[in-house]
Amino acid sequence: MDKILEKILITGADGMVGSYIDFGIKTDRKDLDITNAKEVRDAVGEYQPMAILHLAAETNMEKCEKDPAHAYLVNSVGTYNLAMEARKIGAKMIYISTDDVFSSGDSVHSEKDTPYPSKVYGHSKYLGELAVQRVSDDSLVVRTSWIFGGGKDRDKKFVAKIIGQLGQDEIDVVEDQRGSTTFAKDLVSNLKKMILSGEKGLVHLTNNGICSRYEIAVEIANFYKARAKINPVSSDKFNLPYYMRASGGLISDRIKLRPWQEALGDYLSTEWGK
Ligand SMILES: NC(=O)c1ccc[n+]([C@@H]2O[C@H](COP(=O)([O-])OP(=O)(O)OC[C@H]3O[C@@H](n4cnc5c(N)ncnc54)[C@H](OP(=O)(O)O)[C@@H]3O)[C@@H](O)[C@H]2O)c1
Repeated sequence: MDKILEKILITGADGMVGSYIDFGIKTDRKDLDITNAKEVRDAVGEYQPMAILHLAAETNMEKCEKDPAHAYLVNSVGTYNLAMEARKIGAKMIYISTDDVFSSGDSVHSEKDTPYPSKVYGHSKYLGELAVQRVSDDSLVVRTSWIFGGGKDRDKKFVAKIIGQLGQDEIDVVEDQRGSTTFAKDLVSNLKKMILSGEKGLVHLTNNGICSRYEIAVEIANFYKARAKINPVSSDKFNLPYYMRASGGLISDRIKLRPWQEALGDYLSTEWGK
């Protein structure tokens, strides 16, 4: 294995994206709490990583809205703690950020667009981006969106929920929110390539294409040739709070991954089966 992949410190490795990582020094909250500056200093001092791949985050939107102090502590201060220690030893800082640095709406956003977060989660992650970009001399910020993955055992998100309802006659799915979706396996394999080729700066990394939740559900139902009829409905039907609404989606001027339909089909066939 390449030296940089062996000597990369991973945070939040027990999470969904982390479960696809097959390299580096994997840590999670129990080994390394990123909000504890001393723990971060000690871990970076001990492992002397060539790079830090920072996945750890508070990703629960509702929790972030209800407890902003916690969201900012984990997503902004925790990221700052890591960026400071990376800087001290000259390690590269790689930070996974989100489409939620943009507000809900219909626009798609490229790397050139200026963030305007409206949710606590998005704002706390944006402050994390700024900490990485301003503190670290060598950084890569990767924004991604609507990640699916985990398979039968750990997927509790949208794809798993739709699969669980396919035996019903009808399923109502929101169609007035559009975004970009990303297979965690594609995210990780492209991150690996970017780390090896020494990419820097800011990049949007999602599967290609913009879609609604409704379109994803139709794709899943077609894959399983399910009898359930998928009904497109408005977000108002589910009374979704503003922080659960989509950002509009990400596009990239730097990289193009395979289309989301192909990635979803790969996920369903390899991790769920027919
Ligand atoms: N999932 C998405 O759709 C999505 C979209 C865009 C960007 N992202 C970003 O991608 C990254 C990975 O996301 P994910 O889906 O893998 O998230 P995840 O499944 O929620 O995993 C996050 C991990 O971070 C850990 N963590 C939380 N607080 C911590 C702390 N103080 N110290 C150390 N570890 C801590 C969590 O541990 P506990 O379980 O113990 O809390 C968990 O293992 C995150 O930075 C997220 O913001 C995700």
